[in-house]
Amino acid sequence: MHHKNGSFTNSFGFILACVGSAVGLGNIWMFPYRLGQYGGSAFLVPYLLFIVLFGITGLSAEFAIGRRAKTGTLGSYDLCWKGKSAVGQKIGWIPLLGSLGIAIGYSIIIGWVLRSLFGSVTGTILTEDSAAYFSQATGNFGSFPWHFAVVAITTLLLITGSAVQIEKANKIMMPVFFILFAVLAVRVLFLDGASEGYKFLFVPRWEQLKDVNTWIMAMGQAFFSLSITGSGMIVYGSYLNKGEDILAASMRTALFDTIAAMLAALAIMPAVFAFGIEPDRGPSLMFITIPNIFKQMPAGRVFSAIFFLSVCFAGITSLMNMFEAVIESLQHKFNFGRKFAVLLCSVICFGVGIFLEAESSVGNWMDFITIIVVPFGAVFGAFSIYYIFGYKNIKEELDEGRSKGIPSWFGPLAKYVYVPLTVIVFILGIIFKGIG
Ligand code: ALA
Repeated sequence: MHHKNGSFTNSFGFILACVGSAVGLGNIWMFPYRLGQYGGSAFLVPYLLFIVLFGITGLSAEFAIGRRAKTGTLGSYDLCWKGKSAVGQKIGWIPLLGSLGIAIGYSIIIGWVLRSLFGSVTGTILTEDSAAYFSQATGNFGSFPWHFAVVAITTLLLITGSAVQIEKANKIMMPVFFILFAVLAVRVLFLDGASEGYKFLFVPRWEQLKDVNTWIMAMGQAFFSLSITGSGMIVYGSYLNKGEDILAASMRTALFDTIAAMLAALAIMPAVFAFGIEPDRGPSLMFITIPNIFKQMPAGRVFSAIFFLSVCFAGITSLMNMFEAVIESLQHKFNFGRKFAVLLCSVICFGVGIFLEAESSVGNWMDFITIIVVPFGAVFGAFSIYYIFGYKNIKEELDEGRSKGIPSWFGPLAKYVYVPLTVIVFILGIIFKGIG
């Protein structure tokens, strides 16, 4: 029996949707800087280790519980906790609120990206002072139309259908993202002075592996980038057919997410160095440093438009997943019709977000959500699946669609390494005020 929202047509469609969720701002405005800052290619050692570990045990668990429960976040926690603890069932709301919370902040930031795309097309982003241009949209209620447009686009993409619609949108936006970022990476290769950027990114500084911060940042980055939140990936799992191999799909999702992060590094950092600008991260990299680069580059307007269009696509495909987690749970829990649930989610997202448009407000909001709520959701998800629902039961689901069962080392790795690591990510995030 299929989910009433339908199912993905095949594993390629499913993987693209999951890659759409995973590839977002984390890959673009965080990974390139961390790669250079924490040891160049030496950083890849812990990063890839965590990506593989979290991909195998974390992503697959969320997909599997969704497919087993045949429903998303709230229904999956009901399945895990029913008959065991009513409180456990109620706590399942927290990961869902994490999805809603990120959606609220993310849609404001993608609104700034949309505005920068528009500014690239008209050329104003290149003629005005970049910091001043950005600050026009970051005061109270400063980004209203762009913020509204992003919520409206996401609403339209989701309102008509669900699984199939999500798949179709990702089948267009994700390949376009990869192609355009590859174009940028090739263009940047020919800039004079780009070599300093490649050195920053890739010359290994092995001594940094002795610094515990390198390992912590790699772990946080891998966690956030894969969208392991105890919520969003569960709903996509619920739209997956029984015949698909979850473990293989998880590994492919992790692989494409990593390729996207590397492409972002190759497209951004060499250009930053070619123009003698200090490497940076976060909003100032995206909205001030990068426009400054395009100003100096021949045909900068075209490349600026390409850049912001791709970031828009990466952001909207992540946003669609956050929305879908909330929408599906509203449909499931309260029996709301699809359209009503979509509109309700959009109204809440915009209605709350409108008061957070100032840069400092959205910054504080995102810190709270990504440092406290989302990592808690990830811990709760991992614990609920592997310990409460139980490894034996989730293994049955992971075995579906595989000719050989999952390997015997999987259980101990998941229960004794992955689950404790989610707790460590949560605690270190609070101590370090954010590692994801
Ligand atoms: N995983 C998404 C990102 O990297 C949310 O931004």
